[in-house]
Amino acid sequence: MPMAIQIYDRASKKENHLVDRYGRVATKLRISVTDRCNMQCVYCMPRGNDKWFEDRDVLTFPQIIRLGQIFAGLGIEKIRITGGEPTLRKDIERLVGALSKISRIKSVSMTTNGLLLSSKVNQLKDAGLGGVNISLDTFKPDRFKAMTGLPHLDRVKRSIDAALDAGLEVKINTVVIRGWNDDEVVDFAKFAHDTGITVRFIEFMPLDGSGIWSHDLVFSKREMIAKIEESLGRLEPSESKSKDATYAPAKLYSIKGSGTVGFIPSITEPFCNNCDRIRITANGYFMTCLFENPGYHIKPMLDSDRSDSEIREHILQMIEKKPEGIAGIIRTKSLRPALNMMNRIGG
Ligand code: GTP
Ligand code: 5AD
Ligand code: SF4
Repeated sequence: MPMAIQIYDRASKKENHLVDRYGRVATKLRISVTDRCNMQCVYCMPRGNDKWFEDRDVLTFPQIIRLGQIFAGLGIEKIRITGGEPTLRKDIERLVGALSKISRIKSVSMTTNGLLLSSKVNQLKDAGLGGVNISLDTFKPDRFKAMTGLPHLDRVKRSIDAALDAGLEVKINTVVIRGWNDDEVVDFAKFAHDTGITVRFIEFMPLDGSGIWSHDLVFSKREMIAKIEESLGRLEPSESKSKDATYAPAKLYSIKGSGTVGFIPSITEPFCNNCDRIRITANGYFMTCLFENPGYHIKPMLDSDRSDSEIREHILQMIEKKPEGIAGIIRTKSLRPALNMMNRIGG
């Protein structure tokens, strides 16, 4: 079923809020600060990739901060810094500090592969970072190398500990791919049980620069739950926590005894009708949806002498046109590999 156009008090909301034609309101901004990455995850980056944005095409910190201010004036409350790998961007803690000082921004967080995090975590925390989502898809060293291209599982584990020690909120993101790591979902659920860290299992989306995606590789939320329940007993849906924006878009479940796991079922239960996020790519494209291609190039407006109010007007026109999202792509049977490159969007 196509999404119903919501009856929404748009006249009053529209002026200062990012409301699209379906009535969805964006309150979260994801800013990708670099397309570069020090890993080559099989579900994300083309192997051997050496095509990066030119430095001159990448948004500067003052440009990102200006955008943060403009978006905060349009109802954005939470900023997530993504990449590529955001810790590769020089002086990233300085950007975190500036973004977290913008009035109306309630939190600044980061999604990272954890390779370099342990060395920067205290500076990031001091600068105002609230939390990190750390990607980890396997506990097996050989498999880690096969999935990421690097033999550094231990470094990621150290970063998880360092982030907890620094007092950051930590979530683990685990992309589950059939035949690659679906046999580890129970181990990850046990990890969540034993450590109290929330693990979110993510269905594999066709945002793979490598072009390997196929329906057969999608290990569904239903299959993951069945496997976990076989070993650990019934998972209790955690309705109140799932509604907490901190955990969206994951659907959260409590593990018997203790611990929480989440599922991000983008393919089998798309959540586009509740979408609350927008994105800026490192080279200054505004993307109203993960699956928009290429989005709207707003860097030229920042490079020229356009005023904040002109940029704001432009943003409001673009948000209006936000597409339905992956839900529509699935309905029209248009899913295919490499619809977009995740390392350029940041998830
Ligand atoms: P917050 O909600 O800001 O806390 O972040 P998050 O949990 O959405 O961020 P994170 O970067 O950890 O994303 C986890 C996974 O969810 C990644 O695989 C993302 O690609 C996926 N994801 C995040 N946002 C969306 C979205 O809007 N649509 C879809 N389909 N997937 C998303
Ligand atoms: N499908 C689902 N999730 C993905 N991620 C990267 N590529 C994909 C994909 N093709 C996840 C990473 C990271 C987050 C930003 O996006 O694991 O946690
Ligand atoms: Fe939002 Fe697009 Fe993701 Fe759907 S696919 S939840 S519309 S960003």
